[in-house]
Amino acid sequence: MHFDLDIDQGGVMKLRRIQDLDMRGKDVLLRLDLNVPMKGDEITDETRINAALPTIEYVAKNSRRFAICSHLGRPKGQPDPKYSLEPVGSRLAEILDKEVVFFTDYATEPTKPVLDQMTESQFMLLENLRFHPGEKLNDVDFSRRLAAGFDCYVDDAFGTVHRSHASVVGVTKGFEPDRCVAGFLIQKETEVMEKLISAPKAPFTVVMGGAKVSDKIAVILKLLDVCNNLLIGGAMAYTFLKFNGASVGSSRVEDDCFDLVESIYSQAEKRNVRITLPCDHTAASEFSETSPAVEVNEKDIPPGLMGLDIGPKTIEDFSRVIKASGTVFWNGPMGVFEWPEFSLGSCGIAKAMAESSAETIVGGGDSVAAVNQVGLAANMSHISTGGGASLEFLEGKALPGLRVLAF
Ligand code: 3PG
Repeated sequence: MHFDLDIDQGGVMKLRRIQDLDMRGKDVLLRLDLNVPMKGDEITDETRINAALPTIEYVAKNSRRFAICSHLGRPKGQPDPKYSLEPVGSRLAEILDKEVVFFTDYATEPTKPVLDQMTESQFMLLENLRFHPGEKLNDVDFSRRLAAGFDCYVDDAFGTVHRSHASVVGVTKGFEPDRCVAGFLIQKETEVMEKLISAPKAPFTVVMGGAKVSDKIAVILKLLDVCNNLLIGGAMAYTFLKFNGASVGSSRVEDDCFDLVESIYSQAEKRNVRITLPCDHTAASEFSETSPAVEVNEKDIPPGLMGLDIGPKTIEDFSRVIKASGTVFWNGPMGVFEWPEFSLGSCGIAKAMAESSAETIVGGGDSVAAVNQVGLAANMSHISTGGGASLEFLEGKALPGLRVLAF
């Protein structure tokens, strides 16, 4: 079976899969999303490494030799030690029980002679792709250099399939199309997201949070076609509340986005979707971790206070809807969850999802961090490794990194 991806106004796309590629005796270039959060040299969350392991192990077992490549952070097209993949290489070596051959000069030196010297107990890791301007420019020469020396290309970097970068798109020109395939993670992520928009088990509840309505408008409008409930938290809720005539104190509001909010309400009305906003808040007098939390027990926030999290009654309301759902998709935190006093809303949503018997999908970025913070990742049906990628997929955009893996 192949995955059918509805893209570009209904065109159907099938991905070529790693399990259909004969890589015996072949050298494989493996693109992963090892863009993990770091504190100095320490990896603070290994979710993306763990998610890539089935594909890495499969390639290690079936290929002759392999090299992993990835980006880390957003360096400015030149080497920056802060964004080196070296600590990630050491961690991978530990997990895989193999020695890492860390190759930094691949943009100027051929990779093949280094590959040729590798033993079975070694794997290669290329230094951060974004140390080279050619990566983000999808440069032809840089792409050619990346592909040179390899027989096949496996992409399992779901988090970057929305980027038209050299290691995602240009590199595939260096291989026969049938030698470019999707790894297990890309297959799983696209299958889950596809099901979410085509056949979600009802009632389908979307929990949207995060800072800006403007960032999420396209995906919200798309999801309104298929969901039954839309629960809105995070800073974007204050724009919705103000649009509805509530007082929001000094909360963050996108005053220029009322037309977007209006289009959401009008679409929701057409599709019979129930939109629920916070009815109470945890607020503070200023945007600061040390500013004491103030409970506001009603929808209106008084002057001088800004909402920084949903309140206890809202957590209860949202949890009730979540627990009665057949499918729940959550994207974006309910408050400033990095600050303990304003993390209860996001923790509450994570707990309600964990306790629900619904299919529960967490859509990348900060909401995943919130789930990890409360240690409930294992209780979710699916945690996406791609924040931006999952949203663009759900919006129905044609993703360049998937196009090149398609039949
Ligand atoms: C992510 O963290 O969402 C992916 O690794 C993509 O990173 P980018 O937004 O810097 O392209």
